[in-house]
Amino acid sequence: MSEQDELLSKAFHLVRQYLEQDSELVVQYESPESLNTKVDLSIPAIGVSQEKFLYLLETYLTYSVRTQHPQFFNQLFSGSNLPGLIGELFTSLTNTSMATYEIAPLATLIEQTLIAELNAYVGFNSGEGTFVTGGSNANMVAMICARNQAFPTAKDQGMLHQSAVFVSEQAHYSFLKAANVLGIGLNNVIKVKTDPKGRMIPQALQAAIEGAIASGKTPFFVAATAGTTVLGAFDPIPEIAEMTQKHQLWLHIDAAWGGAVLLSDRYRHFLIGSERADSLTWDAHKLMGLPIVCSAILIKHQGILAQTVSNQDADYLFHDHENSAYDLGLTSLQCGRKADSLKLWLAWQYYGKSGYQKKIDWLLEMADYATQKVNQCPELELMAPTQFLNICFRYVGNPSADLDRLNLELRDRLVKSGKSLVNYTFLKGQVILRLVLANSEVQRTDLDQFFENILAIGRTL
Ligand SMILES: Cc1ncc(COP(=O)(O)O)c(C=O)c1O
Repeated sequence: MSEQDELLSKAFHLVRQYLEQDSELVVQYESPESLNTKVDLSIPAIGVSQEKFLYLLETYLTYSVRTQHPQFFNQLFSGSNLPGLIGELFTSLTNTSMATYEIAPLATLIEQTLIAELNAYVGFNSGEGTFVTGGSNANMVAMICARNQAFPTAKDQGMLHQSAVFVSEQAHYSFLKAANVLGIGLNNVIKVKTDPKGRMIPQALQAAIEGAIASGKTPFFVAATAGTTVLGAFDPIPEIAEMTQKHQLWLHIDAAWGGAVLLSDRYRHFLIGSERADSLTWDAHKLMGLPIVCSAILIKHQGILAQTVSNQDADYLFHDHENSAYDLGLTSLQCGRKADSLKLWLAWQYYGKSGYQKKIDWLLEMADYATQKVNQCPELELMAPTQFLNICFRYVGNPSADLDRLNLELRDRLVKSGKSLVNYTFLKGQVILRLVLANSEVQRTDLDQFFENILAIGRTL
């Protein structure tokens, strides 16, 4: 056996072992100080032996969070499905960049096929799009497209106008980052009031637009969210579309979290009116269970991306030839870009449309089950109505205690125990625990176990 064969087969043995292991813990928690002493991170002068290399791989697996574990409820993603994992591996195996057809022939056609497929779900009949580095980046690309459409001189001369963009007060923080990068300014991101469920109030949007105009700003962009980060709320797209149409503003939908409900006949109405938007963010690495990153920005009308992002300064890369129209680098802000579409294409082949529909429907059934568990337990309180896959609750078993401190302490102990991972945030100034259902392998028994873990710690505090 050659050295390469031996290393590959031993590394794959570790992969199989990792996937098959029924680990009790989500994470073997260590503080940064302790982890630093347990693992020698220094770079050696001479390359290590094969044995040491495999030991380092094993060590990495030991101390990494098992995001595919059925007790991982911490983020808006979870684990990675098998065809997606294999796709990720083959992407790195062939290691190309999506800039030109010449160096990524099949990957280019795969990406184009998927962009057309995703656009069809949204209702963009002649749309375009590109894979990007994540939902945050997709939101930024949407904003720059809108900016350059509204201010045609911005691309060449920079932003000379006092402009304004509108998002709900529950929107993702990436819009602030985008406004910073694009010269719009954080103060010109206007946060529109939401109703008790966390949905943007259309009348408040109307008032905010009028207020911005009265103060001398030029509005150009409104982002509705389909699946907010904390509450899982879906903004009312048809009503918001009425406002953007009236004021001739670009309507973007941040569907990083909720976009995949379009795959479900039962729940696609959550995104009713999506076809009225100008752009939409879709993170397949969230609800579609693919390894991070797998994210697309979809634009309703063709030609806008190239007009917005390309320039004439790269004749060493883009040449005039019979396949020029297939050079996807011309519609991307990146130069080197991974073939992230392969894993999505493979996973969709593997599960089919019906498989993904079942996964989404199952997760919503699990959200219902988790909500009932909270409602039926006097020691737990639901802190917001469940609208999607985010269950916001807290432990209230000791009502005379400071419940904010108690829940922070409870969560901290839970994370350090490694038994379940859940995140927390603030809602109306109160600490809440946010259970996120992103892993379609999760069963009722896993949720039973999760609440048992919460109650067991809560009762000791
Ligand atoms: C609503 C929403 N939009 C955008 C993002 C950003 O996505 P990404 O982490 O892929 O940048 C998130 C992340 O959780 C999100 O919840």
